[in-house]
Amino acid sequence: MPGTPERIERLRSEGLAALAAARNESELLDAKGRYFGKKGAISEILKGIGALSAEERKAVGAEANRARAELESVFDERLAAIREQERISREGVERLDVTLPGRREAPGHRHPISQTMADIISVFRRLGFSVQGGPDVEKDYYNFEALNFPPEHPARDMQDTFYIESEAGDLVLRTHTSPIQIRTMEKTRPPVRIIAPGAVYRSDSDITHSPMFHQVEGLAVDTGITMGDLKGLLTEFCRMTFGPGKPLRFRPSYFPFTEPSAEVDIQCVICLGRGCRVCKDSGWLEILGAGMVDPSVFGFVGYDPEEYSGFAFGMGVERIAMLRHGISDIRLFFENDIRFLSQF
Ligand code: DAH
Repeated sequence: MPGTPERIERLRSEGLAALAAARNESELLDAKGRYFGKKGAISEILKGIGALSAEERKAVGAEANRARAELESVFDERLAAIREQERISREGVERLDVTLPGRREAPGHRHPISQTMADIISVFRRLGFSVQGGPDVEKDYYNFEALNFPPEHPARDMQDTFYIESEAGDLVLRTHTSPIQIRTMEKTRPPVRIIAPGAVYRSDSDITHSPMFHQVEGLAVDTGITMGDLKGLLTEFCRMTFGPGKPLRFRPSYFPFTEPSAEVDIQCVICLGRGCRVCKDSGWLEILGAGMVDPSVFGFVGYDPEEYSGFAFGMGVERIAMLRHGISDIRLFFENDIRFLSQF
C-alpha cells in the first residue's frame, strides 16, 4: 500500500493508541509488530519508497522515519513502566531508593551487671583500693584450704561447688572471689588494700540465685586495722552506692576465714522493710559477708598475725544491682531479653 503523509499520520496515532492500551509486555510487542517492527506497516512503507517520485520519496521517507522514531521511544518508556509494574506486583515493594537516609543501628550499652560492677570498682578506687584478678577455674587449695576450710569440713557444704574433672582432682569453679585474697597475700607484703571483682559459680538457681553470678572481694591488711575500719568503710560504700540515709545492719555470722564474722544487710528497697517475696519477709537483704581476717589464714601466706591485722568482705554484684534498680528476679539479668536490658 502506498505511503502518503496522511496514512503515516494515521498509523502513527493508531500505533500510539495501541502502545497506550497495551496492558503487558506481549501486548506491547504485538503493537510494535503491527506498526513499526521489522514487518510493521510503517517499515513496509519505507521498503516501498523506491517506487515513489524523488519528491514524494523525500517527504514520505522523512515523515515515516519520524513517526517510527517516536513510536520506538514511546515503546521503550511503556516497556520500562510495564516491567516495573510487574516487579512491584511480584515483590510487593517499591524499588530501593538509595537517596533515602539510612536506618540507624541503635547503639548498644553495657550490661546492667557490668555497669554496677564498674560503679562498685570506682567507689573503692576512690577509697584507695587497687584491683586484682584471679582464675575462674581455681585450685581447691585457694578456694577452700588456704581460706581455712579443712578437707571434709562441713563449711564447704555452704557452697554448692562445681567440681572440674582433672588428674589431681583438685580443681573447682571458684565459688567465691575470696581465693584472690590468698593469691594477693602470697605475692605482696602488707600494707594490702585490694578489691577483686569477678564471676563465681554455684549449683543453685531460684529468684535470688543464679549458677553464675558476680562478687567483689575486698581485703585490707596493715598494722592496727580494726573492725571499726571495716564498718566505716562499708557504711561509706553504701552511702556512695545507694545514697544517704539507707539503713545498714551488721549481723554476727560465721566464715572459716574471718573471726569475728558478720553478714551485712541493707533494708529491702522493694518493700522498704515491710516484707516481701524478695527479702523473704524479713525486710532486709544480705549484700555481703565480712569480718576480720582469721589468724590461721595469715599462717597460710606467711604474715605474722601478731604484727598485722586485716578485714575482708565479699559482696554480691547482682544483689546490689537488684537493689539499685528494684529488680525482683535475678534470672532476668541472664535471659538476654532486649526489652529488659534496654531499660538500663
Ligand atoms: N566468700 C564469702 C561467700 O561467698 C563471702 C565473704 C564473707 C567474703 C566474708 C569475705 C568475708 O571476704 O570476709 O559466701
